[in-house]
Amino acid sequence: MMKLKQLDGLLGHLQQFSKPKVELEQYPTGHHIASRMLFTAESSFGDVSDKVVADFGCGCGTLGAAAALLGAQQVIAIDIDSESLELALLNAENLELDLDLVQCDIKNLGWRGQIVDTVVMNPPFGTRKKGADMDFLFVALQVASEAVYSLHKSSTRDHVKRAALGSFNASSAEVICELRFDLPQLYKFHKKKEVDVAVDLWRFVPKSNRGNGCF
Ligand SMILES: C[S@@+](CC[C@H](N)C(=O)[O-])C[C@H]1O[C@@H](n2cnc3c(N)ncnc32)[C@H](O)[C@@H]1O
Repeated sequence: MMKLKQLDGLLGHLQQFSKPKVELEQYPTGHHIASRMLFTAESSFGDVSDKVVADFGCGCGTLGAAAALLGAQQVIAIDIDSESLELALLNAENLELDLDLVQCDIKNLGWRGQIVDTVVMNPPFGTRKKGADMDFLFVALQVASEAVYSLHKSSTRDHVKRAALGSFNASSAEVICELRFDLPQLYKFHKKKEVDVAVDLWRFVPKSNRGNGCF
């Protein structure tokens, strides 16, 4: 398995959004967080290598690329924005990785059943469009059979846990670690140069949907 340092180094060369779209909450998942997220998913839980992995809201493709570098059997990278998908493709090509790209609003994904093993995502935090993070989580927990790794603001921890276990399809919901997420000053309403947000890295295990068809 690739070492963490090497993974981090490779992800550090990826190109990032040149004109991020505020309304879609486009900020990159930094290589430091992305490498640790996927490395933990593989080294502690075996959720990446030889698995079918989907990257929801792939943006620049950092999480999908990390999954591919760690030996995922197939990576499906999904974003609503065609420019993000072009960037994800460019980044994948530069690293000689295969990503299958899908342009779609996650809410309209329409996949029936648990057709991927693992979903990895840094969803919009829901600051521009309330509930966007929970829309992503709802769908991820319908289509993954093994695990969902996701980043959510720590301030929403109780809400996320309640929704995942109570209304969505999770059989377990654990915060693996709390991170400081440095949002670059992409947007005019951020006064400081960087905005430091406490973010939880979650691992959710979906209930088995075998036998009950679809969502
Ligand atoms: C925080 S960024 C994710 C960054 C990404 N992990 C990366 O490394 O660049 C959120 C992404 O979700 C996408 N997005 C926002 N709303 C979406 C939706 N409804 N369906 C699909 N993608 C969406 C945005 O275009 C953006 O690329």
